[in-house]
Amino acid sequence: MLDPTFPIELVRSSYPALADGFAYLDGAAGTQTPQPVIDAVSAAYRAGIGNVGGAFPASDRSGAIVAACRAAVADLVGGHPDGVVLGPNMTTLTYRLARAIAGPGDEVVVSRLDHDANVRPWTQTGATVRWAEVDPVTGELPVAQYADLIGERTRLVAVTAASNILGTRPDVAAIAELAHRAGALMYVDGVHATPHGPVDMRALGADFYATSAYKWSGPHIGAVVADPALLETLRPDKLASSPDTVPERFETGTAAFADLAGVTAAVDHLAALVPGTGTRRERLLASMSAAEEHELALFAVLIEGLETMPHVTVYGKPARRTATAYFNVAGHTPRQVAEHLAGLGVNVWNGHNYAWELTGALGIRDSGGAVRAGLVHYNDRSDVDRLLEGVARLG
Ligand SMILES: Cc1ncc(COP(=O)(O)O)c(C=O)c1O
Repeated sequence: MLDPTFPIELVRSSYPALADGFAYLDGAAGTQTPQPVIDAVSAAYRAGIGNVGGAFPASDRSGAIVAACRAAVADLVGGHPDGVVLGPNMTTLTYRLARAIAGPGDEVVVSRLDHDANVRPWTQTGATVRWAEVDPVTGELPVAQYADLIGERTRLVAVTAASNILGTRPDVAAIAELAHRAGALMYVDGVHATPHGPVDMRALGADFYATSAYKWSGPHIGAVVADPALLETLRPDKLASSPDTVPERFETGTAAFADLAGVTAAVDHLAALVPGTGTRRERLLASMSAAEEHELALFAVLIEGLETMPHVTVYGKPARRTATAYFNVAGHTPRQVAEHLAGLGVNVWNGHNYAWELTGALGIRDSGGAVRAGLVHYNDRSDVDRLLEGVARLG
């Protein structure tokens, strides 16, 4: 049942790009940007910004932008503002943290469900690598295997909160319990999960929670959130001259200040998708729950439509998932399907989508992967119908 109380028309009207008439089902590769975010970025530039730490007001404005951004991201994921490390994207931040956390003599556990950005930074540390396997039929990441994978030498377990192609939401909290019992750290990739529902990094058992604002209506900025006391124990590569405080110690170079103002505006936008009261954190939890319900109701139509087409193969059937479908169409390459749909005004992604290990496990990496169609809160029933009509025409 579609939720008639979700204000979809109002939500859509705040995204200028949606007026071009395309069905944007490529949100998993990056969402569109609402007007308040565009305004916040240009307002920061208009007001005048300087580098941080100077003796003049424009510098103070940048300092305030950074502080507001840390508070906003902390509210979004349920973390501490002083533990919000900001940077250009999740991949860059994860490489930076991985070098500071693990090395030869350690063991790390990675999974074949994960985007490569939560795999290679760990496997390239020189630590011994242990692999958690995926069930290629269901797309699930069975928790039981972690009891054997995690041992006393395990430094860290890296796992995704949601697969960026199948949408699988593994039982991160249960994996974290096993990791913590062995004294290991949990690094949770929340890049795909964050836009699709409320996030509580403590409930997930995440010592580190990574997210990227461009997946949830913000600018191209990444963040990794951790307990500031944990960050204090780590010594990343840094310049001798740059601050040694936490979280600044992990932030190399000059920040994209105007974009950080946009990140805060994106969090405020998400907190107001549905009317609500209370703190921003409380409004975020309510708003993102409503968004998740909206997405999953639409997704039920999308996935049933695809699964009932005889010429379509849908990958995975996870019990808990985001509204993300990954499929192939008989007789057409994924690229041909994406081009056909683009011609009908429907944006979908094709390829392995950096789910390198997972597409390998599915046996489709070398043949071009598959087609990904994903929903976010601004998608509506007509987007789904246009996708299904377009795919049906290829039968
Ligand atoms: C699940 C997941 N993890 C990590 C990444 C990498 O994020 P970034 O582009 O911020 O480096 C992506 C990007 O698509 C992703 O979907």
